[in-house]
This record gives sequence, structure tokens and C-alpha cells, in this order.
Amino acid sequence: MKLIVVDNYQELSERAAGVLVTEVAVKPQAILGLATGSTPEGMYAQIVKLNREGKVDFSQVTTFNLDEYAGLAPEHEQSYYYYMHHQLFHQINIRPEQINMPSCDLEDVDQFCREYDQRIAAAGGIDLQVLGIGGNGHIGFNEPGEQLRVHTHLVDLTEDTIQANSRFFSSAEEVPKQAVTMGLGSIMLSKKIILLAAGKAKAEAIARTVCGLITTAIPASILQLHRDVIIIVDREAAALIT
Ligand code: PGA
Repeated sequence: MKLIVVDNYQELSERAAGVLVTEVAVKPQAILGLATGSTPEGMYAQIVKLNREGKVDFSQVTTFNLDEYAGLAPEHEQSYYYYMHHQLFHQINIRPEQINMPSCDLEDVDQFCREYDQRIAAAGGIDLQVLGIGGNGHIGFNEPGEQLRVHTHLVDLTEDTIQANSRFFSSAEEVPKQAVTMGLGSIMLSKKIILLAAGKAKAEAIARTVCGLITTAIPASILQLHRDVIIIVDREAAALIT
């Protein structure tokens, strides 16, 4: 794992955008795995700026998003479909047919999950996967527990995650209780991974990811087994690394 500790969120966003833009410059047909949440917002803003300045071209890029709440309509302002289109896709020159998002539709969800993995494999696998991390160590919505799943699947969100994400809803009751997420298989098969974290609420999860034992209690700890992971964190998120 390569660890980059930066001074502030702006620097984190610029470094992360730099990794992604370099990937697309080297491979214009890159397959990108994208994440939502507060942490990558600054990175997306930076990418939009670089695209407007003509410094990166997304016309041949394909994307696969990591996860989506189950049961929220795509037009719901808290759906990840809405987030991605507003923060990024509507603002860059990506072709809509090259965008892949997990379905929020619970009908035929198992079949959807199988097909999502097949689509990723048929595209040649993910070249660069962007990850955030939950305070509980989740990546995507692969929650801590006794087991981790390999494939894309429907997951029950933990109480920690529902509470953490309730800041985006008017109450915790409104947070969907389930989500569709890529499994650890698609993530670990990505050729390169960048994981971003900012703030002290992520410090313990980051310390356990970087220098703890590999355990299903901290799903991100499995990244220690990957050959090409860059972890970009601010000083607060790095505070407990020993
Ligand atoms: P955050 O979420 O970026 O909003 O903190 C990250 C995550 O839960 O994976």
C-alpha cells in the first residue's frame, strides 16, 4: 500500500483527481470504478474543472459505480444515480451509454447483480477503482460482519451506516435499509485502487486498514492484499496510524 498524507481536503481532492486524470490520459478507454459519499465530492469538482479546461477527455471512458441504495428512485436527490449525474456525469463529456450504475430496483435484484458483474468482466475489469471508507471500515457497502461477499449483492446496511448517512436525509428512518453493492471480488480485481479519507471520524478505520490485521470486522483491511493501492488521507484521518 502506498500512503499519501496531505494537509487538507483540497489537496486530497487534487491528488485524487490527478491519479484519475493520469489513468485516463494513459488509457483513454479506461474502465473506472466510482464511489459516492462526501469524500470524493472535491475530487469530482476538480475533474469537472480539468475536463472544462480540456485537460482530460472522457469520451471513451466507461464507468461502473460501486453501490446504490435499494428502493430509492433514480430521481431521488439522495440516490447515488442523482449524485453521480449532478456531481460529474452531466458536467463532463462522458457518453451516457458508457455509464453503469447498480440498480435501485428490488425486482429481479439477484439477476441484476449477476449481470452487473458480467458487464464489468466483459468490459475487461476495472482499471482504476475509487473508494471511500466508512467509519466502520466498510468499502462500497460491504459491511463488517462474519463474512464478506465476492460478487455484487443486496446488503442490509448496519445501524452505524444508517446513522452516518442520516445526515443526508431528514431522519434516520428515511435512510434506506438496504443497498446493492459490488462485492470485494470486483474491487480486489481492479488493477489499481485509490482510497480516500478525510477527518478524524475515519482515523480508526484507516489505522486498522493500513496497519491492522486483515479481518472481516474491517472490510477495507483486505486491501492490504492488493498490489496497487494508494491511500490518500488528510492529517486527521492519518492520526492513529502507528
Ligand atoms: P463519506 O462516506 O465519504 O460520506 O464519509 C464514505 C463511505 O461511507 O464509504
